[in-house]
Amino acid sequence: MKRAIGVFDSGVGGLTVLRALRRELPHERLLYLGDTARVPYGTKSQETVTRYSLEVGRFLEAKGVKHLVVACNTATALALPALERELGVGVTGVIEPAVRAARAAAAGGAVGVIGTEATVASGAYQRAWRRAGGRGRMAAAACPLFVPLVEEGWWGHRVTREVARTYLAPLLRAKPRALILGCTHYPLLRPVLAGVAGKGVTLIDSGAETAREVRSRLGAAGLLRASGPGGAEFFVTDGPARFERLARRFLGQAATARVVRFPG
Ligand code: DGL
Repeated sequence: MKRAIGVFDSGVGGLTVLRALRRELPHERLLYLGDTARVPYGTKSQETVTRYSLEVGRFLEAKGVKHLVVACNTATALALPALERELGVGVTGVIEPAVRAARAAAAGGAVGVIGTEATVASGAYQRAWRRAGGRGRMAAAACPLFVPLVEEGWWGHRVTREVARTYLAPLLRAKPRALILGCTHYPLLRPVLAGVAGKGVTLIDSGAETAREVRSRLGAAGLLRASGPGGAEFFVTDGPARFERLARRFLGQAATARVVRFPG
């Protein structure tokens, strides 16, 4: 049996990463779990997000996945070390690949990051920035209204543009050359964010960068599938109808989700 890649997020947002994985790894089978009963993670504590992430990670590991992609910035920021320690498969988060790409794009200039409250408060992007050899301060801003605006489908709405201007104004004073979209939902706001940030700022999408990282890690481990049909299966912890409705917009195609329940 061909082993799948596990992909997990707090809800639908990780589908932006799944979409990038499908593009980069068209022959792989992907098992996606959206923890829709407990979303959002972005307002919760490290202890809670770690507990949820370990439950989901163990569920996917029990399904026999060969690698786990943490397609959620908040779970990566708060729970990646615990997942790496506790699970028996390789784990890739979305932070390190994005930081490396931002460093290259900024070419010595300043870098900014936007994300959920928990991601920004964790300082995980700043730590990754220093580990990657980044110099100077990384400007950061929490943008908690973006997730509900995206799920409402207000991707290009004037209200969203106004919210983006308000959130980004202090960060843009640091004159970043690259801006990391440090939350699963933000790539869908790319046109609005590009307009607000202006021409000189390269927007970094963690999904695309992470997909490239997963390809290279699987390749190095001899786990890459280079031929045959790929595909995706979807699990949620609540509300499959809402997930399927949003998935159609996030993925541009239908997704049928099965419900699983965790005791926690
Ligand atoms: N998936 C989350 C992230 O990328 C956003 C939604 C949430 O707060 O759970 O940070």
